[in-house]
Amino acid sequence: MVLLGEQFPNFEAQTNIGMINFHEWIGNSWAILFSHPNDFTPVCTTELARAVKLMPEFQRLGVKVIALSCNSVDSHVEWIKDIKSYADVTMDDFPYPIIEDVSRILSTKLGMLDPDELSKEGLPMSARAVFIIDQNKKMRLSIIYPATTGRNFDEIIRVIESLQLTDKYKVATPVDWKKGDEVMVQPTVTDNQAKKLYADKLKIIPVPSGKQYMRIVPQPEDSSMSAN
Ligand code: BEZ
Repeated sequence: MVLLGEQFPNFEAQTNIGMINFHEWIGNSWAILFSHPNDFTPVCTTELARAVKLMPEFQRLGVKVIALSCNSVDSHVEWIKDIKSYADVTMDDFPYPIIEDVSRILSTKLGMLDPDELSKEGLPMSARAVFIIDQNKKMRLSIIYPATTGRNFDEIIRVIESLQLTDKYKVATPVDWKKGDEVMVQPTVTDNQAKKLYADKLKIIPVPSGKQYMRIVPQPEDSSMSAN
Protein backbone atom coordinates (compact mmCIF):
# COMPACT_ATOMS: atom_id res chain seq x y z
CA MET A 1 0.00 0.00 0.00
CA VAL A 2 1.55 3.30 -1.08
CA LEU A 3 0.73 6.38 1.00
CA LEU A 4 0.33 9.96 -0.13
CA GLY A 5 3.71 11.64 -0.60
CA GLU A 6 5.60 8.34 -0.74
CA GLN A 7 7.77 7.28 -3.68
CA PHE A 8 5.61 5.13 -5.96
CA PRO A 9 7.28 1.70 -6.19
CA ASN A 10 8.87 0.69 -9.45
CA PHE A 11 7.79 -2.56 -11.09
CA GLU A 12 8.08 -4.49 -14.32
CA ALA A 13 4.88 -5.66 -15.92
CA GLN A 14 3.57 -7.22 -19.08
CA THR A 15 1.13 -5.03 -21.03
CA ASN A 16 -0.57 -5.12 -24.40
CA ILE A 17 2.39 -3.09 -25.75
CA GLY A 18 5.00 -5.43 -24.23
CA MET A 19 7.03 -5.45 -21.04
CA ILE A 20 7.42 -2.11 -19.27
CA ASN A 21 9.55 -0.82 -16.42
CA PHE A 22 7.09 1.54 -14.74
CA HIS A 23 9.51 4.32 -13.73
CA GLU A 24 11.20 4.27 -17.13
CA TRP A 25 7.81 4.33 -18.80
CA ILE A 26 6.78 7.40 -16.74
CA GLY A 27 10.04 9.20 -17.59
CA ASN A 28 9.72 12.89 -16.65
CA SER A 29 5.94 13.00 -17.00
CA TRP A 30 3.13 12.74 -14.50
CA ALA A 31 1.17 9.49 -14.62
CA ILE A 32 -2.24 8.11 -13.78
CA LEU A 33 -2.53 4.40 -13.02
CA PHE A 34 -6.05 3.10 -12.69
CA SER A 35 -7.20 -0.44 -12.02
CA HIS A 36 -10.29 -2.41 -12.99
CA PRO A 37 -12.10 -5.43 -11.60
CA ASN A 38 -12.27 -7.36 -14.85
CA ASP A 39 -12.04 -7.21 -18.65
CA PHE A 40 -15.33 -7.38 -20.57
CA THR A 41 -17.39 -5.76 -17.81
CA PRO A 42 -19.76 -2.88 -18.55
CA VAL A 43 -18.68 -0.13 -16.13
CA CYS A 44 -14.97 -0.76 -16.80
CA THR A 45 -15.60 -0.52 -20.54
CA THR A 46 -17.22 2.92 -20.13
CA GLU A 47 -14.26 4.09 -18.02
CA LEU A 48 -11.55 2.94 -20.40
CA ALA A 49 -13.46 4.48 -23.31
CA ARG A 50 -13.69 7.78 -21.46
CA ALA A 51 -9.93 7.68 -20.82
CA VAL A 52 -9.43 7.20 -24.58
CA LYS A 53 -11.56 10.29 -25.29
CA LEU A 54 -9.66 12.30 -22.66
CA MET A 55 -6.19 11.56 -24.09
CA PRO A 56 -5.79 15.10 -25.51
CA GLU A 57 -6.50 16.50 -22.02
CA PHE A 58 -4.00 14.12 -20.39
CA GLN A 59 -1.42 15.06 -23.03
CA ARG A 60 -2.03 18.79 -22.43
CA LEU A 61 -1.34 18.21 -18.73
CA GLY A 62 1.76 16.07 -19.40
CA VAL A 63 0.17 12.99 -17.84
CA LYS A 64 0.78 9.45 -19.10
CA VAL A 65 -2.09 7.00 -18.73
CA ILE A 66 -1.93 3.30 -17.83
CA ALA A 67 -4.64 0.85 -16.76
CA LEU A 68 -4.48 -2.52 -14.99
CA SER A 69 -6.84 -5.42 -14.68
CA CYS A 70 -6.42 -8.96 -13.39
CA ASN A 71 -6.61 -10.53 -16.84
CA SER A 72 -4.09 -11.60 -19.46
CA VAL A 73 -2.68 -9.54 -22.31
CA ASP A 74 -4.59 -11.76 -24.77
CA SER A 75 -7.81 -10.85 -22.98
CA HIS A 76 -6.87 -7.13 -22.94
CA VAL A 77 -6.18 -7.20 -26.69
CA GLU A 78 -9.66 -8.63 -27.37
CA TRP A 79 -11.31 -6.24 -24.89
CA ILE A 80 -9.61 -3.20 -26.51
CA LYS A 81 -11.72 -3.85 -29.65
CA ASP A 82 -14.88 -3.41 -27.56
CA ILE A 83 -13.50 -0.32 -25.80
CA LYS A 84 -12.64 1.35 -29.12
CA SER A 85 -16.06 0.48 -30.50
CA TYR A 86 -17.81 1.89 -27.41
CA ALA A 87 -15.63 5.04 -27.55
CA ASP A 88 -16.46 5.28 -31.27
CA VAL A 89 -12.81 5.65 -32.29
CA THR A 90 -10.98 3.95 -35.12
CA MET A 91 -7.28 4.49 -34.30
CA ASP A 92 -5.00 1.48 -34.95
CA ASP A 93 -3.00 1.78 -31.76
CA PHE A 94 -4.81 1.91 -28.44
CA PRO A 95 -3.60 5.18 -26.85
CA TYR A 96 -2.46 3.79 -23.47
CA PRO A 97 -1.22 0.44 -22.17
CA ILE A 98 -3.19 -2.03 -20.04
CA ILE A 99 -1.18 -4.07 -17.54
CA GLU A 100 -1.90 -7.78 -17.13
CA ASP A 101 -2.05 -9.07 -13.58
CA VAL A 102 -3.44 -12.59 -13.68
CA SER A 103 -1.22 -13.51 -10.71
CA ARG A 104 -2.49 -10.46 -8.72
CA ILE A 105 1.05 -9.92 -7.45
CA LEU A 106 1.05 -6.28 -8.54
CA SER A 107 -2.51 -5.53 -7.39
CA THR A 108 -1.62 -7.00 -4.00
CA LYS A 109 1.62 -5.01 -3.74
CA LEU A 110 -0.17 -1.77 -4.65
CA GLY A 111 -3.17 -2.37 -2.34
CA MET A 112 -5.63 -2.53 -5.22
CA LEU A 113 -7.51 -5.72 -4.37
CA ASP A 114 -11.13 -5.74 -3.24
CA PRO A 115 -11.69 -8.79 -0.98
CA ASP A 116 -15.46 -8.61 -1.64
CA GLU A 117 -15.15 -8.67 -5.42
CA LEU A 118 -14.36 -12.23 -6.44
CA SER A 119 -13.64 -13.80 -9.80
CA LYS A 120 -15.38 -16.99 -11.00
CA GLU A 121 -12.47 -18.87 -9.43
CA GLY A 122 -13.10 -17.15 -6.07
CA LEU A 123 -10.01 -14.91 -6.25
CA PRO A 124 -10.22 -11.23 -5.24
CA MET A 125 -10.31 -8.80 -8.16
CA SER A 126 -8.71 -5.40 -8.35
CA ALA A 127 -10.91 -2.55 -7.16
CA ARG A 128 -11.25 0.75 -9.03
CA ALA A 129 -8.06 2.37 -7.74
CA VAL A 130 -6.80 5.69 -9.14
CA PHE A 131 -3.23 6.74 -8.40
CA ILE A 132 -1.84 10.07 -9.60
CA ILE A 133 1.95 10.10 -9.62
CA ASP A 134 4.06 13.20 -10.24
CA GLN A 135 7.24 13.64 -12.28
CA ASN A 136 9.32 12.80 -9.17
CA LYS A 137 7.45 9.45 -8.93
CA LYS A 138 5.69 10.62 -5.78
CA MET A 139 2.13 9.46 -5.06
CA ARG A 140 -0.01 12.62 -5.16
CA LEU A 141 -3.54 11.19 -5.03
CA SER A 142 -5.10 7.84 -4.26
CA ILE A 143 -8.82 7.03 -4.48
CA ILE A 144 -10.30 3.55 -4.26
CA TYR A 145 -13.84 3.20 -5.62
CA PRO A 146 -16.02 0.13 -5.19
CA ALA A 147 -16.60 -2.02 -8.28
CA THR A 148 -20.21 -0.90 -8.68
CA THR A 149 -19.33 2.83 -8.87
CA GLY A 150 -17.68 4.08 -12.04
CA ARG A 151 -15.15 6.86 -11.60
CA ASN A 152 -15.68 10.52 -12.48
CA PHE A 153 -12.89 11.37 -14.91
CA ASP A 154 -13.79 15.08 -14.87
CA GLU A 155 -12.83 14.98 -11.19
CA ILE A 156 -9.55 13.23 -12.00
CA ILE A 157 -8.65 15.97 -14.53
CA ARG A 158 -9.75 18.63 -12.01
CA VAL A 159 -7.44 17.21 -9.33
CA ILE A 160 -4.48 17.09 -11.72
CA GLU A 161 -5.14 20.75 -12.65
CA SER A 162 -5.25 21.64 -8.95
CA LEU A 163 -2.10 19.66 -8.07
CA GLN A 164 -0.09 21.22 -10.88
CA LEU A 165 -1.34 24.74 -10.07
CA THR A 166 -0.70 24.48 -6.33
CA ASP A 167 2.77 23.01 -6.94
CA LYS A 168 3.63 26.15 -8.89
CA TYR A 169 1.96 28.85 -6.77
CA LYS A 170 1.34 29.14 -3.03
CA VAL A 171 -2.41 28.81 -3.47
CA ALA A 172 -4.98 26.12 -2.70
CA THR A 173 -8.17 25.35 -4.60
CA PRO A 174 -11.48 25.64 -2.69
CA VAL A 175 -14.53 23.41 -2.74
CA ASP A 176 -15.81 22.53 -6.24
CA TRP A 177 -13.03 24.64 -7.80
CA LYS A 178 -12.71 24.46 -11.56
CA LYS A 179 -9.86 25.71 -13.77
CA GLY A 180 -10.09 29.50 -14.01
CA ASP A 181 -12.02 29.98 -10.75
CA GLU A 182 -10.62 32.04 -7.87
CA VAL A 183 -8.25 30.28 -5.45
CA MET A 184 -7.27 30.68 -1.79
CA VAL A 185 -3.90 31.92 -0.54
CA GLN A 186 -2.14 29.12 1.37
CA PRO A 187 -2.11 29.59 5.17
CA THR A 188 1.73 29.51 5.20
CA VAL A 189 1.84 32.82 3.26
CA THR A 190 1.92 35.75 5.71
CA ASP A 191 -0.48 38.69 5.29
CA ASN A 192 2.44 40.94 4.31
CA GLN A 193 3.62 38.46 1.68
CA ALA A 194 0.05 38.08 0.36
CA LYS A 195 -0.37 41.89 0.07
CA LYS A 196 2.99 42.18 -1.70
CA LEU A 197 2.21 39.33 -4.07
CA TYR A 198 -1.39 40.05 -4.92
CA ALA A 199 -1.91 43.78 -4.08
CA ASP A 200 -5.44 44.86 -5.00
CA LYS A 201 -6.27 41.39 -6.36
CA LEU A 202 -6.40 40.06 -2.79
CA LYS A 203 -9.91 39.79 -1.29
CA ILE A 204 -10.48 38.86 2.33
CA ILE A 205 -13.82 37.33 3.28
CA PRO A 206 -14.86 38.52 6.74
CA VAL A 207 -15.71 35.77 9.24
CA PRO A 208 -17.12 36.03 12.82
CA SER A 209 -13.76 35.05 14.38
CA GLY A 210 -12.23 38.22 12.90
CA LYS A 211 -9.31 36.13 11.67
CA GLN A 212 -8.20 37.04 8.16
CA TYR A 213 -7.59 33.57 6.76
CA MET A 214 -10.22 33.48 4.01
CA ARG A 215 -7.94 35.11 1.45
CA ILE A 216 -9.05 34.87 -2.17
CA VAL A 217 -7.14 35.74 -5.34
CA PRO A 218 -7.70 35.14 -9.05
CA GLN A 219 -6.16 31.94 -10.35
CA PRO A 220 -2.49 32.73 -11.09
CA GLU A 221 -1.67 32.29 -14.74
CA ASP A 222 1.91 33.49 -15.04
CA SER A 223 5.10 33.67 -13.00
CA SER A 224 4.27 37.17 -11.68
CA MET A 225 2.28 35.64 -8.84
CA SER A 226 4.67 32.83 -7.99
CA ALA A 227 5.64 32.82 -4.33
CA ASN A 228 8.15 30.03 -4.83
C1 BEZ B 1 -18.35 -3.46 -14.22
O1 BEZ B 1 -17.28 -3.03 -14.63
O2 BEZ B 1 -19.38 -3.27 -14.83
C2 BEZ B 1 -18.40 -4.20 -12.90
C3 BEZ B 1 -17.35 -4.99 -12.51
C4 BEZ B 1 -17.44 -5.69 -11.32
C5 BEZ B 1 -18.57 -5.56 -10.53
C6 BEZ B 1 -19.60 -4.75 -10.92
C7 BEZ B 1 -19.54 -4.05 -12.13
